[in-house]
Amino acid sequence: MLNIVIFGAPGSGKGTQSELLIEKYGLTHISTGEVLRREISKQSELGLKAEAYMSKGELVPDFVVIDILDNIIASNGISKGFIFDGFPRTLPQGEALDKMLDKNRTAISVVLSMDVEDAELTDRLIKRGKISGRSDDNHETIASRLKVYYNHTEPLKEFYKEQGKLVSIEGTGSIENIFSSITEVVDSLIV
Ligand code: AP5
Repeated sequence: MLNIVIFGAPGSGKGTQSELLIEKYGLTHISTGEVLRREISKQSELGLKAEAYMSKGELVPDFVVIDILDNIIASNGISKGFIFDGFPRTLPQGEALDKMLDKNRTAISVVLSMDVEDAELTDRLIKRGKISGRSDDNHETIASRLKVYYNHTEPLKEFYKEQGKLVSIEGTGSIENIFSSITEVVDSLIV
């Protein structure tokens, strides 16, 4: 199985590059942000709880997202592999993901870390907010999301570096060029 973690700050292009990866490699996409936004639109109990955190740019508690992931992986037994987009975001989530995959006799193949400057991230998200109306794409919530990223998520890079799985990707430039540097890395894992 090919299991890819696409890692990076809000707006670094995780969702955009995931779509291209799914198309090329036939992977199953797991975006915790998308799952949570679907729950919010259904106004489910989970959605209502998650909305309180997401609207402030804070992380939804680990046990909630870990449970979501566990269910998705269990119900996707036969798959070419997964692309994890926006998960893990904390060390406990990273450790839980290793255990979940191990239970299914597989492991993370690579962690693609998208490097983009803060000013560019903010610019992209503000632009998207104007078009899509995503409620967390406003200056105040973006600042909070970036702070949360640097405090809680970025330290995971060290975790994956120690495992020898972290590959940095220059995340600025055209979407096509970025995808081409990603496929170079992924193709080298397949051959
Ligand atoms: P989530 O939905 O994961 O959002 P995020 O990490 O903030 O990421 P984004 O979707 O904003 O950005 P992206 O990196 O996917 O970039 P994209 O391709 O969209 O999480 C939302 C919230 O849910 C969190 O804040 C948290 O509350 C909660 N949550 C989710 N997962 C959680 C977890 N595991 N634990 C706890 N809580 C969790 O691109 C952004 C924009 O830039 C787009 O408009 C795109 O068109 C544009 N763009 C992309 N690439 C380029 C390029 N190369 N040049 C110019 N523009 C580009």
